[in-house]
Amino acid sequence: MGNPIDLAPDLKHWRVLQDAEDLLWLIFDKADARVNVLSVEAMAELAQAMDVIEPVAASGSVKGLGMLSAKPGSYILGADISEFDTWDTEEQIAKGIRDAHALFARIENLPIPTAVGVDGMCLGGGFELALSFGTLIASKSDKTRLGFPEVQLGIFPGFGGTARILDRCGGQVGLTAMLTAKHYRASQAKALGMVDRLVPDGGHLRWAVRKALLSPRPRRKPPLMARLTRGPLRGMVAKKARQMTAAKARADHYPAPYAIIDHVLESGGSSAAMYKGEVARFPGLMLSNTAKNLRRVFFLQDRLKKEARGKFRARRVHVVGAGLMGGDIAAYCALQGLEVSLQDLDMDRIAPALKRAKRLFKKRLRGSAAQKAAEARLIPDVEGKHLARADVVIEAIVEKLEVKQKVFADIEAKARPDAILATNTSALPLADIAEGLKEPGRLVGLHFFNPVAQMPLVEVVYDPASHEDSVQAALAFAAQIKKTPLKVLSAKGFMVNRVLVPYMYKALEVVAAGTPKEKVDAALLQFGMPMGPIELLDQVGLDVGAYVGKTLGFEEGPGADLMQDLIDAGKLGMKTGQGFYTWKDRKAQRSLAEYEGQDLLTLAEEILQPLFDECQRAVDEGVVDDADLADVGVIFGTGFAPFRGGPLHYVANRDVAQRAATPKTV
Ligand code: NAI
Repeated sequence: MGNPIDLAPDLKHWRVLQDAEDLLWLIFDKADARVNVLSVEAMAELAQAMDVIEPVAASGSVKGLGMLSAKPGSYILGADISEFDTWDTEEQIAKGIRDAHALFARIENLPIPTAVGVDGMCLGGGFELALSFGTLIASKSDKTRLGFPEVQLGIFPGFGGTARILDRCGGQVGLTAMLTAKHYRASQAKALGMVDRLVPDGGHLRWAVRKALLSPRPRRKPPLMARLTRGPLRGMVAKKARQMTAAKARADHYPAPYAIIDHVLESGGSSAAMYKGEVARFPGLMLSNTAKNLRRVFFLQDRLKKEARGKFRARRVHVVGAGLMGGDIAAYCALQGLEVSLQDLDMDRIAPALKRAKRLFKKRLRGSAAQKAAEARLIPDVEGKHLARADVVIEAIVEKLEVKQKVFADIEAKARPDAILATNTSALPLADIAEGLKEPGRLVGLHFFNPVAQMPLVEVVYDPASHEDSVQAALAFAAQIKKTPLKVLSAKGFMVNRVLVPYMYKALEVVAAGTPKEKVDAALLQFGMPMGPIELLDQVGLDVGAYVGKTLGFEEGPGADLMQDLIDAGKLGMKTGQGFYTWKDRKAQRSLAEYEGQDLLTLAEEILQPLFDECQRAVDEGVVDDADLADVGVIFGTGFAPFRGGPLHYVANRDVAQRAATPKTV
């Protein structure tokens, strides 16, 4: 770049450089931050940068403006979500949006060629900024992703992104991007028209941007289909999107996807209308309880990740027990890039786990090379030869204390002194399993949930006698394999089963007292649970449910009896084709239509009351450190309606605001 001159030396977050070739470079480097986010201050400074850029561009003394991030392998993660809660009136938010529109339009309207280079995450507001440049160039690095995650926070793109994505890609692609929150790889984004050019990696970006500025080409017109789906076919596209959205989320729970569809349907024909539509619709969404609660969950999850930070990094994992859980834990760890050895009594017991692992890799990894590599990372190990090299040893054998104690005596003798020793027990006290160990404080729990690859939470179980560094290492390990780790005290049912089981038994009790099971499921679905409790029991298996119930003292009572009668009749749920429901193709045969439109909130709250009570008790007894952690644990461990902000948050707020949870302008 020669000796560039800094035209805006007073800016904290941005640099505006003019190089020897008379190109301007706008460089984003958010001060005191690992990653770039578009905070209010960064946006205000961008306006100052434009004050410098515009006259230079207008003077004809420069040939183009290129934008890059100074953070290696990272572009812009989005707007600064931590500032969202400081916006508290619709007027204030509408003004913020208008200002952002005006600011990005200043880039778009420059009289010189503009180009942006993207390497790493380019999400939300960052993507919207990138879309306002004439040419968008992205690196094919594995880290590069472009997309609109806003809908997951109960909002939609508000910096003009809804208009610009439609300009580039049309109605179908634009709607899909906004509704799915998908993070697109650079090559996918190029194929869909979001990106103009690709470079192999971040190292090539500056050169490619330079070239785009020095020999500018007009952007190709969107293909016919893109134009049609924005024009005459828009109604059809919106209708289909509405059907698909309705199958996933209810409008009263999650208004944002519906607002996106309405916005595209009503305003998609013209960019000017799209900008106006953003101003009209966005503030109400931003201030809705749903969006507030989704932000709350986002920050709590972030808190868990931060609390799990530590030096510990695993390369090798050894899993003892290749059954349902051990097999899937091993496969999941291999999926995350770790070298995994899997031990069981004989090869016949390991083989089914390897088969399931193969299916998982096929589903989750792109390309046969990556799938084969993952298969090669997962090694069957009947004799436990690899145990001595492992950084983490996870036991997932039968739930029997004496057997676990024996296995751990052997593990302790063979494992490296610095390895994590963990049990996946769902009910046995950590102290009992650790009893015979030379160093009982080393043992921790890593309680995964079934199905392992899908459930985000891992309970990291500790006991007052546990070594602090063992617990911290286990938290770091869980975070390393991309799980949300929740530190819980070893007490009956830990956090999740402790609250989930009483809720399930309450649902059974209500059914036993005569309420139709369909009505119970409909009530909890209406509340926002991902699945009704009776259907969930059928899916888990009534035998498994009854077993877990027993470990928590639910052996007797009308609910337990009801379940036992079905078990005695061989009706175990989905796996036998019959439980409470009849099952066909993994679907419960029933209709909930009769309950549509009924107000079932009182019934849902009655069934949830034991869950609320147990959450509070778990906090009082110190199972988790505070109510927020109970909330986030129950959301990620049970699927408890995230838009409600968690059970204890719900209880604390329901009488004040929750019943009037509808946003004003949507
Ligand atoms: P499982 O019965 O499917 O698998 C247990 C495996 O351990 C079997 O393959 C068995 O051959 C093997 N095994 C037994 N003794 C062994 C030994 N001495 N050495 C090596 N392998 C041995 O059981 P599952 O369901 O996978 O449960 C395992 C553990 O995970 C239990 O502690 C259970 O409480 C816990 N857990 C279970 C969950 C579930 O949904 N099933 C959820 C969370 C935890």
